[in-house]
Amino acid sequence: MSQTEKLYEGKAKILYSTADSSILLTVYKDDATAFNAQKRGQIKGKGEINCQITAALFKWLESKDIPTHYIDCPQPNQMRVKAVTIVPIEVVVRNIAAGSLCRQTGLEEGQILSTPLVEYYFKSDELGDPLLTRDRIFLLDLVTPQRLAEIEDIARKINQNLQSFFDKCKITLVDFKLEFGIDAQQNLLLADEISPDTCRLWDQDQSDPKSRVMDKDRFRKDLGEVESAYQEVQQRVLAQLET
Ligand code: TMP
Repeated sequence: MSQTEKLYEGKAKILYSTADSSILLTVYKDDATAFNAQKRGQIKGKGEINCQITAALFKWLESKDIPTHYIDCPQPNQMRVKAVTIVPIEVVVRNIAAGSLCRQTGLEEGQILSTPLVEYYFKSDELGDPLLTRDRIFLLDLVTPQRLAEIEDIARKINQNLQSFFDKCKITLVDFKLEFGIDAQQNLLLADEISPDTCRLWDQDQSDPKSRVMDKDRFRKDLGEVESAYQEVQQRVLAQLET
């Protein structure tokens, strides 16, 4: 698959056009950023690991009737995807209180939420991805009420599937971020990635709050051993899919 024009370079991936206008090529980078790119670094091997984890999970979600933009991986850090228009909403699903939810509400980290919380953030680096309300979503005309209902339903379904999947990997799915796209036929497809960059994953074999972290919080909070945590997630996910 020949890459042609670079369409967009994000913080963790580069998007290229291909000879077929309905297909794009995503190249996953080792670059890591946090706090809206105020903190920058590299996680060695992250591009390949996140690409492979995303590919494996997207393929598995497809088998659970969740449509995704995934096509295949021509190289370990490259993914061919269906061309979609990205909905400018970052959908965060939370099972356990952590991160900004704790900072903004005073909930204690680790508190199990009685029902998974689905939240929407405006995908705008310029504005710092602020939390949205439903009324603000419709005010800004980001999606229709019907589309938002569809997004919430599918986000909850993805959460149910991923929670039980990660549980089998002895990993607790604390929270994660999803992005969706709309294809030329107006179908809603799961897009972007699902990886330790975009999830909070806690190792069920570790009780210490620092040792259990298997995701980008290791980079955000300078906990060390970032590469090995990402590798461990990849190994457990792939091993589970082989069973
Ligand atoms: P938060 O607690 O910082 O709001 O993050 C919630 C989840 O979303 C967490 O799993 C990390 C993920 N996330 C991203 O994927 N990209 C982002 O830019 C942010 C802020 C969070």
